[in-house]
Amino acid sequence: MQPTSFTVNGSAVSVTADGDTPLLDILRNHLGLVGTKFGCGQEQCGCCMVLVDGRAEKSCGKALSTVAGREIVTIEGLGTRERPHPLQQAFLDEQAGQCGYCLPGIIISAKALLDRSPAPSRAEIAAALDDNICLCGSHIRILRAVERAARLLREGAGR
Ligand code: FES
Ligand code: FES
Repeated sequence: MQPTSFTVNGSAVSVTADGDTPLLDILRNHLGLVGTKFGCGQEQCGCCMVLVDGRAEKSCGKALSTVAGREIVTIEGLGTRERPHPLQQAFLDEQAGQCGYCLPGIIISAKALLDRSPAPSRAEIAAALDDNICLCGSHIRILRAVERAARLLREGAGR
């Protein structure tokens, strides 16, 4: 088995595993990055979103072999408890979650959106989060949190 090399949150990694192994499994069980969640395992819920070369993608359906040489960012790569990313701060400020299980995936989808569209409308935010399911029904607070994060980022937060 040949190792597969890629970057995760800015660090080079090399993983020896079957090329068909889902990236989600690699992140959680080989690299200890458990912020990315397992929900359905069938590309239906969005819990497992990560950025792949800047695009939000579901890591449960992405084979290890397809990420060779790519740049992966997980929720751990956004901010820290001490220095949260503006998206993380906005979700805290808006109390945008109940159980919180969906939030890593939602924040990753929102990050991809705000990176390409700094001032999205509410409809654009909703469309960008279309692949993310929140079973707790926190949708309105989640939309508000993304709007708040967009404002914070436009005002220069997180630089
Ligand atoms: S766990 Fe990947 S989409 Fe649900
Ligand atoms: S906050 Fe519980 S699933 Fe979204």
